[in-house]
This record gives sequence, C-alpha cells and structure tokens, in this order.
Amino acid sequence: MANLTVNYLGVEFKNPVVTASGTFGFGMEYNELYPIEKLGGITVKGLTLNERQGNPAPRIYETPSGVLNSVGLQNPGVRYFAKNIMPQLKKLDLKIIANVSGSTFSDYVEACKIVDASGADIIELNVSCPNVKQGGAAFGTNPDTVYEITKMVKEAISTPLCIKLSPNVTDISAIGQAAMDAGADGLSLINTVTGMAIDLKNRKPVFHNVVAGLSGPCVKPIAVRMVYQTYGKTKAPIIGMGGIANGNDAVEFMAAGATLVSVGTMNFKDPFTPLKVIDGLNSYLDHAGISDVNEIIGCAHPAGKKI
Ligand SMILES: Cc1cc2nc3c(=O)[nH]c(=O)nc-3n(C[C@H](O)[C@H](O)[C@H](O)COP(=O)(O)O)c2cc1C
Repeated sequence: MANLTVNYLGVEFKNPVVTASGTFGFGMEYNELYPIEKLGGITVKGLTLNERQGNPAPRIYETPSGVLNSVGLQNPGVRYFAKNIMPQLKKLDLKIIANVSGSTFSDYVEACKIVDASGADIIELNVSCPNVKQGGAAFGTNPDTVYEITKMVKEAISTPLCIKLSPNVTDISAIGQAAMDAGADGLSLINTVTGMAIDLKNRKPVFHNVVAGLSGPCVKPIAVRMVYQTYGKTKAPIIGMGGIANGNDAVEFMAAGATLVSVGTMNFKDPFTPLKVIDGLNSYLDHAGISDVNEIIGCAHPAGKKI
C-alpha cells in the first residue's frame, strides 16, 4: 500500500481526499453512514457572518452528468458554527476546512476572525460571491479585488488561508496569481460553472435567480484544465475539484497539480464516493508501482517528475 499522507499548507492529511463545501453538510450527517475519520478531511458548508435562509426552491436541477444549484448559501452563521459544530468536529481525527463567504469586505474579515478562533485547520475563502458594493459581480472575477480581499483576510487571521477560485473568468491562473501575490497560502478550484435551464412547461428560467452553478462529472475536463494552468503559472498548493467520482479522477487532478482532491456533487449520487476515491487512488498507485502519492503531484507538467 502506497503512502497516502500529504501535507497541505503545513497541515498533515492522512490521505489527499476531502469533501467539497456545500455537498457534505457539516460532516456529522455523513458520519452516520460511515466513519468520516477515514477521510483526509472535510470542507464544511459555506459560512457567512450572519445566518442565511438561502434561496427559494427550486435549488437543485439535474443535468446530464451533473447538477445546477442555486442554494444561496443557507447556513446558521459563523458564530453558531464556532460554538456548536466545531467542538463536535474537533473530537474527530480528520482535518477541518472551513469555507467562508461574504457580500462585503468587512463581512469576510469578521467571519474569518471568528473561524480563526474556532480551531479550524484551514480557512477556504469562497470568492465566487456577489460583491454587493460593486454592483454584484463576483469578487473572484477581478484580480485586484481578489488581491485586496486576500490581503485583508490574511492580515486578520493566523489559520492557513486558501482562496477558492471561480471558473467564470477568462484566465483563472491570473486570479490565482493575484491571490498568491497578496499572501494566500494556497488555492482551491473550481467552484461551480455558471449555467441555466429553461422549464419547458412555462418556457421560463427554472431558477428564480435565472442563472445557477453547474457541477459534477460534466465539469471535470474544465476543472482539470484550470488546475493544470493555475499550478503551471503559480506552483501554489492546490485543492482540486470538479466532478471527481473515482480514484482515476483523483489521479488526473493530482497529476495536473493538486495536492488534495475534493469530492462534491458525487456525494449526492453515492455518499460513499469519497471512500471509493481513496480505494481507487490506492489501487492505481499499487498497479503503477508508485510508493508515495506525493510523487504524482504536478507530474503531468513538462518539468514534472518522471515516474
Ligand atoms: C449544492 C451545492 C452547494 C455548494 N455550496 C458551496 C459553498 O457553500 N461554498 C463553496 O465554496 N462552494 C460550494 N459549492 C461548490 C462545490 O464545493 C464545488 O466547488 C463544485 O461543486 C465543483 O465540485 P463537484 O463538481 O465535485 O461538485 C457547492 C456545490 C453544490 C453542488
């Protein structure tokens, strides 16, 4: 059996498989199905400074090989998380990545300070949220805004910080570079791809917000390409995600440059997917005669290690 231990942002993960924000609740729900301690870690659902009710239904719409979602960041707020959820999660032997969203710069900073004090291992900043003060375009679509928000949050916390990038941009690697220049410790990508669907009964958009976020196996080639390009430009430590369904998918993301791989939408189809990804990754490495998973990180690049 190969060594599966990886170090991401100075945090030791027992294996590189984690879960993606918004697809795994706060972890405890899944702990009733299997011991989630088998995972390297979990990313909790997106937290905001104050509680949010989320968007009206419909929130999820199935597409070929994926889903569109418009959940609208329903969550109990960061204070509730720190007081009631984090103490339970801290009892488990796995790493906790806290995903934080906001609609203003000060919301992000205040929420991150509370998470920072809660004992989360890593803070993942979701910059795909609309910037209320700048007309609603997502924070993550402008390198200057990403630079500014990263710097402000980084200065306010001591927990390692990774910036979760939006794929809805022309050059994701430039946005990743801006985050790293501002002091981010790492990156995670991709968030959902903007999409929409029309209801054939009334010929109107399915979602109240018209557009929604596409995820699942249909986005995987886009995500692998973006991880490859972002790692190629920045050499940043990366959490790769987008449609991961099995061990071979994990190998692709790691070869493109990811250190950790995150399972998202596939949890809805089969909640045991993260365990299957760990097993599949292990078998792949055994069959290929690779004794350490770290060997494959970034190996698809021209300067990557020959293995
Ligand atoms: C229902 C749902 C809710 C999500 N909520 C969040 C969230 O709160 N914060 C965030 O950064 N990403 C969120 N995401 C994006 C996922 O974490 C992930 O980046 C994306 O879905 C791509 O991975 P996947 O194809 O494996 O799902 C959500 C995705 C889905 C499907």
